[in-house]
Formats: sequence, structure tokens, C-alpha cells
Amino acid sequence: MYKVISCLTGRRAAVSGQSCSWSGSAKFHLAGGASSQKSAFKQPTEDLPEMPPCNFRPEQYKGMSKERMMEIRKRNCSPMTMKVTYYKKPVFIHQGYMQWLWDVDGTRYLDLFAGVATVSVGHCHPYGRRKAAAGQTVAHHQHLPSLLLSRSSQGVIYLTNSGSEANDLAMLMARLYTGNFDIITFRGSYHGGSPQTMGLTSNAAYKYPVANGLGCTNTMCPDVFRGPWGGSHCRDSPVQTIRDCGCAPGHCMANDRYIEQLKETLVTSVPNRIAAFFGEPIQGVGGAVQYPKNFLQDAYKLIRERGGICIADEVQTGFGRTGNHFWGFEGHDVLPDMVTMAKGIGNGFPMGAVVTTPEIAASFSKGVHFNTFGGNPVACAVASSVLDTIREDGTQRNSLEVGTHLMTELAKLRDKYEIIGDVRGKGLQIGVEMVKDKASREPLPADAMNEIFEDVKDMGVLIGKGGLYGQTFRIKPPMCITRDDADFFLAVFDKSLHNYMEKR
Ligand SMILES: Cc1ncc(COP(=O)(O)O)c(C=O)c1O
Repeated sequence: MYKVISCLTGRRAAVSGQSCSWSGSAKFHLAGGASSQKSAFKQPTEDLPEMPPCNFRPEQYKGMSKERMMEIRKRNCSPMTMKVTYYKKPVFIHQGYMQWLWDVDGTRYLDLFAGVATVSVGHCHPYGRRKAAAGQTVAHHQHLPSLLLSRSSQGVIYLTNSGSEANDLAMLMARLYTGNFDIITFRGSYHGGSPQTMGLTSNAAYKYPVANGLGCTNTMCPDVFRGPWGGSHCRDSPVQTIRDCGCAPGHCMANDRYIEQLKETLVTSVPNRIAAFFGEPIQGVGGAVQYPKNFLQDAYKLIRERGGICIADEVQTGFGRTGNHFWGFEGHDVLPDMVTMAKGIGNGFPMGAVVTTPEIAASFSKGVHFNTFGGNPVACAVASSVLDTIREDGTQRNSLEVGTHLMTELAKLRDKYEIIGDVRGKGLQIGVEMVKDKASREPLPADAMNEIFEDVKDMGVLIGKGGLYGQTFRIKPPMCITRDDADFFLAVFDKSLHNYMEKR
């Protein structure tokens, strides 16, 4: 007898069958031993991967019914809320613990999206909570800037309440410092939803038909999978693209071509003197898009030649998520003039920051700027605890180890399924780009994406979607996930792809 997770309720039901191991420690349980096959995908259809165990017991949910919550959502919440109710059968989360979430019915999910890379060290991390609640808020208030700066370069720090606010401030400071106005970002980027940052953001889904972001110009994203150029050595990732590469060792033709595009933007679309270039080390909402290895180095040089400063948006990539480094920009071997951060710093608590040089910061002191809650003592206590926890839990190392394992195994699924076009990323900032077929690289249509997405959820794993065409599955979990969790997801994803291919 084996315990099998029911894909609908997530509760355990006893059925008879055999277990067989898959890719490390994840196990399949053959329901009734049935194994009906239609295609070459050698996998039984009835068996479901077993979720790794968890000792934590959530409280019983005693709140309002799902129907009532849905009614309120439809009637009283902004229509946006319904738009982002991701699933056909929505999940109503009740409680979280580390990488696990429970819905109001007590069904457990492995969270591989972490509120869009926001929960860094784990939901309700016991150590972090204890520390944050210890009441030393004022001490933390003093302590946080030095703690943060010890993890970045020498600098000056401004504390904010969100990433958009941090980027708004960064835009303002860049303009005041340089005396220039124009700011360049990559197409496909997301840097915030405020009227100013909406101009930095280059994704139609997040733009509104109102005047926004005057002075922002978007340039071609050097996307080595979907873009016009890319080969099989371009990026800093355990997995390269499936594209051919004719480059000699040490040379990257794709980088040259994309730099030419940036040069063209500089000579056609902005004045000779510019204020800044904003770039994420790995494009997050865009679908974990990576650039050729030397691109940012070359781009920073061009920007600085025109008087601009270089700004790294680390809202998603910071705090060890990319594995080899604490900050994503370090992987590109560049030193930005300004770094903006949010999300992971608060592990779910609203918090953001801008770190820059004393010279750039000085230009800001000509006027008065304040925000009521930025850097409030409670937020500082939380953020200090998060930084301590990252160090004490070995979170960055775990990102590297589990993320590398996950990507390497996902690449095997890419080789197995025609509809996986690309697997990429670093550490636990991972994208799996889905295509109609590998030859065309055309995005997999939304209905197919939704079907796989729903199936993965029904088997107990929450992932994200992104990319300009909603074609990329995004995996950016709390950085405490284990190799067993990764194997469980791999088994679930394999099965959901198999299910989809069987029906197609
Ligand atoms: C890279 C990046 N920058 C900025 C932001 C904006 O942060 P916030 O939602 O905290 O305003 C986001 C949010 O998703 C982001 O992903």
C-alpha cells in the first residue's frame, strides 16, 4: 500500500501500487499499477508524484467560505484582482511555513513562486520571526544600513516601502546628479507600476494609456534565446540555448550585434547626454531573460561615455537568489553607480532601498525629500533579521546548489519535450520558455500554458508565468527549498507535460 497525493484535494489517499524512483528522490506511485501509454513518453498516466514530507501542522481554517471570498473579490475588489486570480480553480491560501503553503481546505502546496521572488528565506521563517519580534526595533533601525552596505559597495542608502518607490527615487537622483533627463531600459523589462516607473517598464500588459515616464527610451533586449542573435555559449547559466553557435572561443557574435543595437538607440533616440541606464541582471517579469556574458560591461561603458549613470535593479535578483553572488550584477563583473532593491529584503514585509555613492546622493540634498514610513523601525527589524537569516541558513549556497540541480534536470526535460524551448537562469531565478516547436520558437499559446499551469497546481506545485507573451514558466521559490522539493517539482512538471502532449 502506498500513500498517493490526490491531485484535486492534495489529501493523502491510500491506494495500492508500486513505487518507482525518478531523477533522484522523487517517487511515483502507480495507482492500481495502471500504465496506459499512447506515445513514446514512457510514463504511467494514473500515478502521481509524492510530495516530500513536512512536519509543520497548519492551524485549521475557520474563516469565511471560498464562495463568499470569491463573491467579495468579484463585487468589491478592483477588477485587477480578478484578472490576476491565476487559476481556473483559484487557490485560497490560509497559511505558510518555509517553502509550503496551505489553502483553506488544508491542501498543501510547494511554493515555487514566492509571491514573485518576494519570500526570500521562507514563509513565516521561525528564526526571522523571533528576531523581528524581539523588540530591538530601534537597534535594528541603526543596524540595517551598515548591514546592507556591508553587502554592497561603500555607499549611502535610502530606505523606501517598495521597489517602485526605490526606482522612482533612483530616476530622480540620476537626473539631479547628471543634469540630464533621458533614461534607457530594456524592452520586456518591469521596473514598477508608478507613473514614473511605468516609463521604464517595457511590457504592454503593465502600461496604461496615460502620459507616463517622459524621457524613458526602451532599447532591444539582448535575449539570446528569443532575440535575433544567440548561440550556445552566450550566457552565464548552467544551461545554454539550443541555438547553434559559430563563434570562436572567447568571442560572442550575439554580444556584438546587441551592442550595435544599443549604439543605434544612442544615436537615434536620445540626446548626446543621458541620465541613466536601468537594467536587471536577469530580467524577472520578462521571464528570467539573460544577456550575453559581456553585454552589461560594454553597455555600462557606452552609457558612462554619454554622462549617464548605471543602475542595477536588484528587486528580484538580489539577496543571494542568483547563487554564485549576493547581488546579480556581480555575475556580470560590473559595478553599478546605484542599486535598487525590495521584495526579498523584507521576506514579504513592505521594504525597499536605494544604495548609491555619496557624490550622487549629495545632489539629492538640494531639496527636501521624505517618506513617512520608509525605513520605519519594524521594517528595519524585519530586514535585518532577513539578512542575518540569509547568512545563518546558508541561503545563497542553497540557491546555487538546488537551482543548478533544478536547471540541469529541467534541461533534460527540454530535450525530451518539443514544447520546451529554453531553460535558463542562475541559482533560484529560473525561466522555462515554452514554444509551439523548437524550430519556430513561436510562443506556446496561452490556453496550452494555462492547461499545464493548472495541472502543475493540481499536483501540488505553484509556479509563475511571465514573458512578453506569457510564454515562460517562472521558478523563483523561497530560497530554502531542498533537492527533494526540486525533484518533486521535476516529476510533477514532467507529468503535466506528458499529460498535455497526450491530449494534443
Ligand atoms: C525588477 C523589479 N523592479 C521593480 C519592481 C517593483 O517593485 P514593487 O512591486 O515593490 O513596487 C518589481 C516588481 O515586481 C520588479 O520585479
